[in-house]
Amino acid sequence: SSPLPIISQEEVTRHRSLKDGVWVTYKGGVYDITEFVSMHPGGEKIMMAAGGAIEPFWSLYAVHNQEHVLDILSGYKVGEL
Ligand code: HEM
Repeated sequence: SSPLPIISQEEVTRHRSLKDGVWVTYKGGVYDITEFVSMHPGGEKIMMAAGGAIEPFWSLYAVHNQEHVLDILSGYKVGEL
């Protein structure tokens, strides 16, 4: 399998809408979660993290601290910071 591309923080920041795509970062990985937004059990709150890091939000909402949540996220990985 070929390595994923290195993506700049600036490029991530440009993806914070459903139109431009919704990208987030988590522990150095970059994830394109555009397709997941409408499936999120927590609804539109997920857009608060659009274009940036999800760690601050996941600290507040500990429901994400489960393996099955990380499994979902891993499926959307597109690169490394
Ligand atoms: C619930 C995924 C970002 C707020 C959940 C659940 C999943 C999920 C799978 C259900 C967990 C369970 O009940 O077992 C994700 C993913 C995210 C993300 C993959 C980012 C890529 C966020 C953000 C916020 C948020 C940024 C808040 C700003 C919530 C809330 C719930 C929830 C409040 C609980 C909903 C309920 O049970 O009523 N999320 N989430 N999520 N999420 Fe997220």
